[in-house]
Amino acid sequence: MYPIIRDLLFNFDAEGVHHFSMDAFKTLNKWPYFNRILEQQFRVDHHKLQRKYFGIYFPNPVGLGAGFDKNALYLKELESLGFGFVEIGTVTPLPQDGNEKPRLFRLPKDQALINRMGFNNHGVKVIANRLRQRTTSIIVGGNIGKNKLTPNEEAWKDYEKCYTELFDCVDYFVINVSSPNTPGLRELQEKSSLQKIFGQLQNLNQGQIKPKPLLLKIAPDLTIGQVDDIIELSTEMKLSGLVATNTTINREGLLTPANDLEKMGAGGLSGRPLTKRSLEIVKYIHQQTAGKLPIIASGGIFNGQDALHQLKAGASLLQVWTGFVYEGPAIVKNICRELIN
Ligand SMILES: Cc1cc2nc3c(=O)[nH]c(=O)nc-3n(C[C@H](O)[C@H](O)[C@H](O)COP(=O)(O)O)c2cc1C
Repeated sequence: MYPIIRDLLFNFDAEGVHHFSMDAFKTLNKWPYFNRILEQQFRVDHHKLQRKYFGIYFPNPVGLGAGFDKNALYLKELESLGFGFVEIGTVTPLPQDGNEKPRLFRLPKDQALINRMGFNNHGVKVIANRLRQRTTSIIVGGNIGKNKLTPNEEAWKDYEKCYTELFDCVDYFVINVSSPNTPGLRELQEKSSLQKIFGQLQNLNQGQIKPKPLLLKIAPDLTIGQVDDIIELSTEMKLSGLVATNTTINREGLLTPANDLEKMGAGGLSGRPLTKRSLEIVKYIHQQTAGKLPIIASGGIFNGQDALHQLKAGASLLQVWTGFVYEGPAIVKNICRELIN
């Protein structure tokens, strides 16, 4: 059934379809029977799926990656589809429109997406208020970033603002310095920049009665040397874990014709082409840290086999995004069932 709906939806603008389908879903979900039917249809509860990492209990290891529900608008709907957790954001201190549209493209031949959204979001104050009023208990990660106009030398202030505003309304934080769509952002993956950002955040965090887990999201395009630096920094800055990985700027080996790629232009590539690289990075980090650092695997996870490969490579938790678009609403259920077996 879903492939038919998907093929129909793929005739329309990708970003428009995203908002239209989630808004329609939200309207339908207000009807309690619909919500209950969804939960019965899609939620899988089983003791084998439960996990506990960085002090948080996860009912299952399959989460939704950042960027899908940037503004925390659809948490109840995503909970009824069975997600074990949702990462909202990337949230910035001030609201931003993001880049000019169109900025999201499908590559069906590659089961992939290219996006250059540019951290479009309602701003941390609005999002924090929305989170305070939520009627769901799903685990929420707060993925935070800097505004486009904030110079890199002052980026730490933006992370601090987002951390402070969101502190009482998220379960964990992810510091995002790996999106390719904010100019210069990925330079913050250098050790000295990260030391500054995490130094400030951990100072605030350690002053709290119950500090929040702080994780770092990294790009798949880092060199091994850079990954080594990040591993070192994780210990030094007492990070709770890493999210590996964000989208890639690499376009090698795609089936989509070069002409079409050129028309789409710059942006981060996600989905199937990322499966192998994300897996390699997860495996490497797991080996180098002797399994002591929790890793949330993100990148090209579409089904139970992909999930199992990531867990075997050392991932603690998983996130889907592009796979959700291609596989449809049963993706969490399908992965969870395979994990139980
Ligand atoms: C349209 C779109 C928007 C995204 N926005 C964000 C974002 O705001 N912050 C972030 O950390 N990652 C963002 N991502 C990256 C995803 O969270 C994920 O790490 C990446 O897409 C790889 O996973 P996938 O192959 O399952 O899609 C975005 C991805 C897509 C496709």
